[in-house]
Amino acid sequence: MARINPHFTNLHTPYIFPIIEEKLADLQKNHPSATVINLGIGDIALPLVPAVVQAICQATEEMGHSTTRKGYGPSEGYPFLRKAIANHEYAHLDISWEEIFISDGTNTDTVNLPELFAHDSRVAIPNPTYPVYLAANTMAGRASSIIALPCTEETRFVPVPPDQPCDLIFLCSPNNPTGVALNRKELQAWVDYARSSHAIIIYDNAYVSFIRSPDVPLSIYEIEGAKEVAIECRSFSKSAGFTGLRCAYTIVPRSLPDGLHSMWKRRQATKSNGVAYPIQRGAEATFSKEGQFQVKAQVASYLEQATYLFDGLQKLGHLCYGGIDAPYIWWKTPKDLSSWDFFDRLLEQCHLIAVPGQGFGSYGEGYVRLSAFTTPNQAEEALCRIQQL
Ligand code: MLT
Repeated sequence: MARINPHFTNLHTPYIFPIIEEKLADLQKNHPSATVINLGIGDIALPLVPAVVQAICQATEEMGHSTTRKGYGPSEGYPFLRKAIANHEYAHLDISWEEIFISDGTNTDTVNLPELFAHDSRVAIPNPTYPVYLAANTMAGRASSIIALPCTEETRFVPVPPDQPCDLIFLCSPNNPTGVALNRKELQAWVDYARSSHAIIIYDNAYVSFIRSPDVPLSIYEIEGAKEVAIECRSFSKSAGFTGLRCAYTIVPRSLPDGLHSMWKRRQATKSNGVAYPIQRGAEATFSKEGQFQVKAQVASYLEQATYLFDGLQKLGHLCYGGIDAPYIWWKTPKDLSSWDFFDRLLEQCHLIAVPGQGFGSYGEGYVRLSAFTTPNQAEEALCRIQQL
């Protein structure tokens, strides 16, 4: 008799984004003429940049000719993309292209990496943070070995090393949803903690391209000792609008203990057939001169919307955080409303979609997250509606 994985019953809350999709569908059904402003899921608002479109079209064309066709690619990713990443992003940090693994998303990598670790590993996870870390470890049977790292106003929303040992640590910086990034000193404290407790850090750096503060490292490998304890994940989703294309990469250094690099290579070879060739060519194009110019302009535009929304909310007397090194604004709900009540109010009265902070963890209660992946017109309209709330 087939027996289901019993750990799924430990998932006490549904995944946040499908619930929001349902709420949006209900609103559209009940108010078909409403123009909804979606500052919910962090999805792109601008089209793919021309350099990427051109590279993808050209690569697809290659696949239509017998001399240049491509079948299965290497499961770790094509060397042309791995080398472009190594040269462009990691040359000064002495990361070799063979330590870089291409995948279809940081989501995919952060939920698969725990497979490399023992079943009874103790896992430290910030609260609030990107909800998949907790859900994936719960599905894997680690619900009772989770150590929550509260990120509250008192800690400036920064997770601090716990006073108990743990084996695996998830850090998302700049953090989704709070938009707060770890500075050099804070990240050094985590690396030191991981070294002294023989733990491994899974560092979700998907929002690196939004970092502007000089004291926030662009890579965990800028921190002394990190190559012995950290795996870094980055994505083209937010830096180059690849949410619908799917391409990301993860650094698994050879200097990690216990052959983790070889284990990940083995795991990927077995369980992944890699990312489509044209998509990898598109990702490579983001590192060309015109590609860089174009994708940086998009990121700058999203950050401008973050600043606009942040300043606008503050002028209206609201308390908010983030929005500096990240495309997210962490907005304290007025009048102590619960995050779901405030979400409903924004939806019903402003036709505006936010994300209830509670969906990112219990310490997210009392906040909503606004995404700045939007256009200037939409951001302006959103503030007008909020003003009338
Ligand atoms: C978010 O809105 O938190 C992210 O866009 C979701 C994701 O990256 O999967």
